[in-house]
Amino acid sequence: MSKKLIFPYNAKYPSVADLRRKAKSMIPKFAFDYLEGGCNEELNLLRNESDFDDIFLKPRYLQETGDIDMSTEIFGVRYKAPFGISPIGLQGLMWPNAPEILAKAAAKNGIPYTLSTVSTASIERIADVSEGTAWFQLYHPTEDLLRDDILKRLKQAQYPVLVVLVDVPSFGLRYKEIKSGLSMPPKMNITNVLQALLRPTWGIRTLQHGIPSFATLKPYMETGMDLSQLGQFMNRTFTGKVTFEKIKAIRDIWQGPLVLKGVVNEEDMEEAIQLGVDGVIVSNHGGRQIDAGESSIRSLIRLVNDPAYQGKIKMMLDGGIRSGVDLARAHAVGSEFNFMGRPFMYGVGALGDEGGEHTINMFKAHLYQIMQQLSIDKIQDFPKRLLSSL
Ligand SMILES: Cc1cc2nc3c(=O)[nH]c(=O)nc-3n(C[C@H](O)[C@H](O)[C@H](O)COP(=O)(O)O)c2cc1C
Repeated sequence: MSKKLIFPYNAKYPSVADLRRKAKSMIPKFAFDYLEGGCNEELNLLRNESDFDDIFLKPRYLQETGDIDMSTEIFGVRYKAPFGISPIGLQGLMWPNAPEILAKAAAKNGIPYTLSTVSTASIERIADVSEGTAWFQLYHPTEDLLRDDILKRLKQAQYPVLVVLVDVPSFGLRYKEIKSGLSMPPKMNITNVLQALLRPTWGIRTLQHGIPSFATLKPYMETGMDLSQLGQFMNRTFTGKVTFEKIKAIRDIWQGPLVLKGVVNEEDMEEAIQLGVDGVIVSNHGGRQIDAGESSIRSLIRLVNDPAYQGKIKMMLDGGIRSGVDLARAHAVGSEFNFMGRPFMYGVGALGDEGGEHTINMFKAHLYQIMQQLSIDKIQDFPKRLLSSL
């Protein structure tokens, strides 16, 4: 009988649905809508989650197993669990200090936190609180000089992995954000102020930590910009597609592991391999960019089963993962590592400073339990228990 591990978490919130419910009562509506929303009719957002339901695993009982080991190696680092935290913009708006809370919890528990270019903590601050373990996600800037300066800062701060986002040739059309004024340029209207007043803990925390800002981008912005100038700055700074040539230029500068986030088709995959990219995160930005697209788990299944890519590039996944059972399903169909976005933000919204660690332990507990049901002791063995896939 394998030894029982204990992953301590708050028993009032054993699932993502519990955390979501609580987070909704703590975060002002305009910020919660920003977190929740998908693009257009939100069909792809729903598919991301519901497609997991059609992947079945086979339990196995009459078999002895060793101690369960969830650790997983990616890019030469052995992480203590096979998942990380997706990059999320404006995190500190949803919950004050959220990037620091999550980066600290990730470092303490041996998993990667990914800092977004447009999050609310700087490259240097997150390198510090994550003890150099956080990854960085680059929104490709229009200007090469800005790109070069960000890459220089990443190198100085010793970020281990650079993730370049490719799926935002234009901002997604998210109706909830348009209505609440959170699209670019952002607007703070009277409704948002009233919604903030209904969430006093959020308000007090925001006063304690200060109004959130795009901390990494501060050195490139004029001081004292109003919201409309800020919108214009963001549009100017991040306009344009990420092309083959732009990735090639980054590949020439960045010696460490390079990952493309948002690859979902064969043509982009082939170019990534040709460019010497080390990994892809198969992702549709959490259903926030193209509503007619397929779920990210479906894209992953297609790509991992294509013999042209096997062994040539690491294939990771994000989108719609809401439990350790979903993590198990993702590994069973061939994902090598997984990321989650909204669940970690629900965790922080619900439980504040404790939210990061709670959510990590909750997912570990789910994963541990399903590994026991399947009689497997390592993550690489999940594919042996795949019964049927999409
Ligand atoms: C509120 C919000 C903001 C996001 N901001 C970014 C971002 O700045 N950079 C990025 O690469 N992806 C961003 N994403 C996408 C996430 O990194 C990730 O792909 C997505 O959340 C995964 O889906 P999940 O939320 O179902 O786990 C954002 C997603 C959400 C929900």
